[in-house]
Amino acid sequence: MPNHRLGAVGCALLLAVAGCAPGGPLLAGSPAATPRATVASASPTPARVAPTDLPVSVPASPGATLDVLPDGRTGTALDQPFTYRGLVLINRNHPVSQAYAPEVGEDYRLVPEAERAFGRMLAAAKADGADIIWRVGYRSYENQAELAATPPTHYGDDAEWYVARPGQSEHQAGLAVDVASKAGYGTRFPETKEFAWLRAHAHEYGFILRYPEGKSALTGLNYEPWHYRYVGAAAAAFGPNATLTVEEYLGGR
Ligand code: DAL
Ligand code: ZN
Repeated sequence: MPNHRLGAVGCALLLAVAGCAPGGPLLAGSPAATPRATVASASPTPARVAPTDLPVSVPASPGATLDVLPDGRTGTALDQPFTYRGLVLINRNHPVSQAYAPEVGEDYRLVPEAERAFGRMLAAAKADGADIIWRVGYRSYENQAELAATPPTHYGDDAEWYVARPGQSEHQAGLAVDVASKAGYGTRFPETKEFAWLRAHAHEYGFILRYPEGKSALTGLNYEPWHYRYVGAAAAAFGPNATLTVEEYLGGR
């Protein structure tokens, strides 16, 4: 699985972008900015999981998905995300079309409810001494296509595990947000108090760690300690330090 080969090379590449060392300078990215922060993880390397090992059939490309979606949607039904038990789910098996572009807020580029909750969460974290940096919220289908076509070089061969294909990213739903800390970001983010605060409290504000470590076979994506997803009240079922995925919460979808 990913997280296994970037090491010093990844760090060297990041130095050229935003400063690699924990505590180094970090600027908040623009909404369309690509994620920049991925270096080697100190955590154990999970076994690599090929897309075909996912629990249900996985489309080879967005264009190939339209007739074979496990959720049965076709045509204009794809202009809205798959929703189950009141939760939006977008992944390799449940894409949305290019037409889906929700209204998002100006501050964090999230849909209104998530935007408000994120603002409350940031303020609460700050009051506790955790200075969480917002980096990216909404990304359009086109932004995602650009990112997937030219992923940050430090992802190397693992880019497909870090960057969702166009139509398969929850950033397109305005429900996903990437964060960081001045003390560390990317795979260094777990070393920071900001990460610890989020793991303990994010669910209180309706957010969950969307791609937990060791769950790539279910999510189809690598561990992303910086990527949080707004699920609203459902977050209570996830709780603090959760490793539950949305796919599991929704019964294996
Ligand atoms: N980096 C996350 C998985 C995305 O592209 O949506
Ligand atoms: Zn993200």
